[in-house]
Amino acid sequence: MTEKVRIFLTEEEINERISEVAAKISEDYAGKEVHLICILKGSIFFTCELAKRLTVPVTMDFISVSSYGNDTKSSGVVRLVKDLDEPIEGKHAIVVEDIIDSGRTLSYLLDNLSRRHPASLRLCTLLDKPERRVKPVEVDYTCFNIPDEFVVGFGLDYAQKYRNLPFVGIISFSEDE
Ligand code: IMP
Ligand code: MG
Repeated sequence: MTEKVRIFLTEEEINERISEVAAKISEDYAGKEVHLICILKGSIFFTCELAKRLTVPVTMDFISVSSYGNDTKSSGVVRLVKDLDEPIEGKHAIVVEDIIDSGRTLSYLLDNLSRRHPASLRLCTLLDKPERRVKPVEVDYTCFNIPDEFVVGFGLDYAQKYRNLPFVGIISFSEDE
């Protein structure tokens, strides 16, 4: 099996859009402190680029959930792999996600986090595939809506590979001769 990745969003396009979203968040949270919750591992690249562009004070924490195996199909099962280090009570938390697909991960996570009494809880995603939604999720900040294709790069993986690509690409598979 040969894997091919073709560029879908360039690094420039992504960073330009992240700057716009960061400006909107900075405006919305003026006078407040923002607590970014990065969902490992996929969101680390996006979280860093977003955080660097925010002009309000920022704190960060990391959480890890799993809903996928080494495949492009969702298992439908969400499991908390690593919890946050700090409580979020009284904080203005923003969950930072790489991509929303079925919505299962986020609907589980937002429900879990809202029980911890944050002052506010919003969701910011780099990519969204709205056509794929199984569980409804309210998204506050979206960088790009994309079609139903499996994408890699900018933190997103296929079987743990390609996270380091500086762009978002569509992966395709072909049988070797
Ligand atoms: P959901 O629970 O179905 O919304 O899945 C969300 C998670 O599945 C994301 O955080 C990704 O880790 C993974 N995922 C969904 N679509 C893609 C994709 O196109 N490329 C890489 N990972 C994906
Ligand atoms: Mg993810």
